[in-house]
Amino acid sequence: MQREAVPPKGLWSPTSWQLKPVAQQPEYTDSEALSRALCELAKLPPLVTSWEIENLKKQLADAEHGHRFVLQGGDCSEAFEDCESDAIAKKLKILLQMSLVLVQGGGKRITRVGRFAGQYAKPRSAATETHQGVTLPSYRGDMINRPGFNLADRTPNPELLLRAYERAALTINFIRALIDGGFADFHHPEYWDLGFVSKSPLSAEYMRMADSLGESLRFLETLTGHTPSEINRVDFFTSHEGLHLYYEQAQTRQVPRRPGWYNLSTHFPWIGERTRDLGGAHIEYFRGISNPIGVKVGPSVSPAEALRLCEVLNPDNEPGRLTLIHRLGADRVEQCLPPMAETLTKAGKTVLWCCDPMHGNTETTRSGIKTRRFEKVLSELEESYRILKACGTHLGGVHFELTGDNVTECLGGASGVTEADLKRDYRTRVDPRLNYEQAMEMAFLLARLMRQNGR
Ligand code: PEP
Ligand code: CO
Repeated sequence: MQREAVPPKGLWSPTSWQLKPVAQQPEYTDSEALSRALCELAKLPPLVTSWEIENLKKQLADAEHGHRFVLQGGDCSEAFEDCESDAIAKKLKILLQMSLVLVQGGGKRITRVGRFAGQYAKPRSAATETHQGVTLPSYRGDMINRPGFNLADRTPNPELLLRAYERAALTINFIRALIDGGFADFHHPEYWDLGFVSKSPLSAEYMRMADSLGESLRFLETLTGHTPSEINRVDFFTSHEGLHLYYEQAQTRQVPRRPGWYNLSTHFPWIGERTRDLGGAHIEYFRGISNPIGVKVGPSVSPAEALRLCEVLNPDNEPGRLTLIHRLGADRVEQCLPPMAETLTKAGKTVLWCCDPMHGNTETTRSGIKTRRFEKVLSELEESYRILKACGTHLGGVHFELTGDNVTECLGGASGVTEADLKRDYRTRVDPRLNYEQAMEMAFLLARLMRQNGR
């Protein structure tokens, strides 16, 4: 591999990515309409602030040191239609409930990062889709085009960039309001929907954990006379794949009294597996912003390439700056993760290891439905825990595609979703998500794993 010196920051600007080859961008037919939408976007106020972003960076640095654990999760692809109160409240609730289980069972503070309030652009393996002889552009997320299989819906529309920004703003506004208001009922585990627990071989252990969680919270309430502030006033962060670079650029700003440039459309943007080419536009854009950032690493990343990603994206080795979201697959993690982790550890690179056990474990059933198996997701997590520990580092976070509804998209778990069930309530537009019961069960199992591994 070619090893060029890391280009100095001075040669970076929010537009310097435009000089590099750029993957996975939509082709707009009306360039004037695109310019108008981007000008408007560049004038609109930011969705997050630099101090929230710096606070997240500190928390991620704590996770790198093993003092915290990161729970990142949400839809694969957020839908405009889901920008409504019930759906948003459910997304928040599942992450809060999972994080309480992890605090209680795993004994670490948890940083919650939603895959929402902006997760509207999707990379696609194929640029077009063909049905019954008709070929149309692929659906690329609500920010770019619409899912209906007709030319009008599938034609990329720059106006959707503004609609996406507005919905991200509405979502984050409601989330902030819910958190400020206490979002009460989640701290009474006896009201949680844990019916699936009785079907699990671990039911006694789950019930003990849920009971002791309720007791600790009530004890704290009694002691302090009010609900525990850690839970009532939780921090909550947003994240999305920073895929559509014109959109990201339009929200990239300088702020008073802090050096550098921030992407103020989200706290934690990440680079996807399909756009992490070292010579490409996404790496160029991300290297210059001051946010903490993630990069997805799949089985085709060599240890040398992982090292280069660290050098380019975090040349100062700043704690909290870079999260490697590894998504290797249960069958390949054993082969791919140790050499990568050993290389970075030996080179003294500061990174947060965060396992995405979803994207390396996608399969298609005989009847053509995209799904994932609960056991494979769990197995990649267990293996990652064990491998990173053996390499002298640790797993610092997890990244799930999940939803607060009991959809039937992933197979297995104690509630026993079968192949026949997949047709019943399969709603995702892109990748299959863990449902409420599967996500809660995963949180209990993860807490157990954290305990077994000495936390
Ligand atoms: C995703 O997170 O939805 C995604 C497309 O992941 P990856 O880039 O890891 O394939
Ligand atoms: Co996905």
